[in-house]
Amino acid sequence: MFETLQPLPQDPILQLMQTFREDNRPDKVDLGIGVYKDDAGNTPIMAAVHEAERRLLEGETTKSYVGPAGSAGFNSAMAELILGSNSPLVRDGRVSVIQTPGGCGALRMAAEFLRLCKADTKVWVSTPTWANHLPLLGGAGLTIREYPYLNPQSLQVDFGAMLETLEQADPGDVVLLHGCCHNPSGADLSLAQWQEVTSLIQRKGLLPFVDMAYQGLGEGLDADAAGLRHLASAVPEMLIAASCSKNFGLYRERTGALALISETATVNAAATSQLLSVIRSHYSMPPAHGASIVETILGDDDLRAQWQKELGGMCERILHLRHAFAEALAPVGDFDFIARQRGMFSFLGISPEQVGQLRKEHGIYMLESSRVNVAGLNDRVLPQVASALREVLGK
Ligand code: LMR
Repeated sequence: MFETLQPLPQDPILQLMQTFREDNRPDKVDLGIGVYKDDAGNTPIMAAVHEAERRLLEGETTKSYVGPAGSAGFNSAMAELILGSNSPLVRDGRVSVIQTPGGCGALRMAAEFLRLCKADTKVWVSTPTWANHLPLLGGAGLTIREYPYLNPQSLQVDFGAMLETLEQADPGDVVLLHGCCHNPSGADLSLAQWQEVTSLIQRKGLLPFVDMAYQGLGEGLDADAAGLRHLASAVPEMLIAASCSKNFGLYRERTGALALISETATVNAAATSQLLSVIRSHYSMPPAHGASIVETILGDDDLRAQWQKELGGMCERILHLRHAFAEALAPVGDFDFIARQRGMFSFLGISPEQVGQLRKEHGIYMLESSRVNVAGLNDRVLPQVASALREVLGK
């Protein structure tokens, strides 16, 4: 069975992470994989997470099964985080939130569920989008279509082209949107643009699917969810994949959630039962530990306040770095767009050859597309990166 299989190249983001780890140069700089780093270049465990783990270790009494939907406490806390407090969708029983193994688990289970609803579902994804969206959604059998999102010259949202292409979508088609901190570009829709997209989705009868992987790392927990919440208040059906990897720093704990919004509570109950059956046949139940941490933090006023303060500090640090980076690159060219973009990522707009040169000659790692993780910078490496770029670009 196996001997005819050919080896596959690794996923480019994970490959880059490994190559960076194997690089022995002491002054190497990692701007590759989307992991938050502090000033010292570490990805620390948040203090609120540490404290929640301490409480869990002391208070946990069993490791017995929970169930395919995961913890009810985590799910309702996530519903509030994503949709805001007092959401009419929650009050009216129109939304169910299901704990999943990370945001990827949510994306894949949503895709499997969509295929169950309609075998020939088409999903429209932005160009560019996070590379793993394609295998996660396409691997479940959905047909992928692309809508232009980023103008490759200006590295800003090409909203006109986006709307023009989505006009070609058929009723029932799915539109994947990034809730905030667009990965890989950092170029987000304004609230006015979210409102226009909402109108188009309503008028054409499309199904919105929002990937919310960076809530709290753009402008703040509520500001980052404003577009998504507007959309959710206006449409009959919607899916949301949420991740706790970045905003709780729980990467390896695989903690996420899938929200399913339906037109009525009765429809939602039936749809949720189908979704849970899909989950049961894939991984049966999600892992508990990360979700227990999140539930503990969000369920305790002091811990929640501490977490929000830490997250706010991370968000501010990224905003500071965005401005400092654009300023440091001013002698090289106009990189002001970096200061205007949000979240961890921006493109530098340089060629794959120049990216390769930065890696080979200067130990500076970024994706071949020139996507950089701004959170990987700090005041120490900024001048090093700026001068390497100046050299590579011949400025
Ligand atoms: C990234 O885009 O770098 C992150 O979302 C990590 C990953 O799994 O690709």
